Amino acid sequence: MSKLFDIAGKTVLVTGGASGIGLMASRAFAKAGCTVMIASRKGAVCEGAAASINEEMGRDCAFGFAADLASDEGIAAVVKAVSGRADKLDILMNNAGATWGAPMGEFPRSGWDKIMNVNVTGVFMLAQALLPMLEAAASAADPARIVNVGSVVGTRAVGNNAYSYAASKAAVHHLTKVLSNELAPRHITVNAIAPGPFPSRMMAFVTENEELAALARADVPLGRLGEPDDVAGVLQFLCSRAGAYINGAIIPLDGGMSAKP
Ligand SMILES: NC(=O)c1ccc[n+]([C@@H]2O[C@H](COP(=O)([O-])OP(=O)(O)OC[C@H]3O[C@@H](n4cnc5c(N)ncnc54)[C@H](OP(=O)(O)O)[C@@H]3O)[C@@H](O)[C@H]2O)c1
Repeated sequence: MSKLFDIAGKTVLVTGGASGIGLMASRAFAKAGCTVMIASRKGAVCEGAAASINEEMGRDCAFGFAADLASDEGIAAVVKAVSGRADKLDILMNNAGATWGAPMGEFPRSGWDKIMNVNVTGVFMLAQALLPMLEAAASAADPARIVNVGSVVGTRAVGNNAYSYAASKAAVHHLTKVLSNELAPRHITVNAIAPGPFPSRMMAFVTENEELAALARADVPLGRLGEPDDVAGVLQFLCSRAGAYINGAIIPLDGGMSAKP
């Protein structure tokens, strides 16, 4: 049973892997014996996160570097950095994301375009650019994995003034299914996790305000925010042989929020 969930030795890229859910994932992959590459706009923060993971693990298993996934240059920088360090990529976790909130009537085009560009276009462009490296890792017995990070708001029609964010996450869910069909013959599975509320930079305005945090917990049937082990557990399952037959799934990671009436 434990071998079924083994992912030791795999090479992973976590975008936005230096904070929030991405950092939870980077740590989890490193603890599970993977080599982890971490990319986001702030290269020094990625390097710092990698250094602290290496110290914690007592081995050089994490590397951080800068890349803006909203630009072609950033996508090219990722391909260069990843191919410079590995000859194949077992797992791509498309986690980087951004949000924008403004009331209906005042929502700017810039807040629409920016969010779509990072959350949707970046996910597609990066998957496309890294396909050769994913294919190099892929086999019928143990497919390469793409794990996209969607959201409970991609499933539930809750706007909360974050209109482009909600639409972008629904698009991530749909793109996940489209790519799962497209890439299955190449032995690459594509799934998404759809988190509910987790503490992170994006959610700091909620989690660092006790009143809002209490409301957020109350909105979750299990009555709590997400935790690092919740991220680690679903990734260990999805990315190991145990999850090799899961493809095109949108997995709720939300304490039951998406099942609420
Ligand atoms: N926390 C939640 O409650 C929650 C719930 C549902 C879904 N999610 C999703 O989970 C993912 C992680 O978010 P989080 O909550 O953990 O927030 P976070 O701590 O703010 O993480 C977002 C990450 O994305 C990176 N990023 C943003 N724009 C980027 C760009 N243009 N290029 C490269 N990297 C970029 C950021 O790093 P830089 O600033 O260095 O670029 C940051 O590391 C997102 O996709 C988010 O939508 C979060």
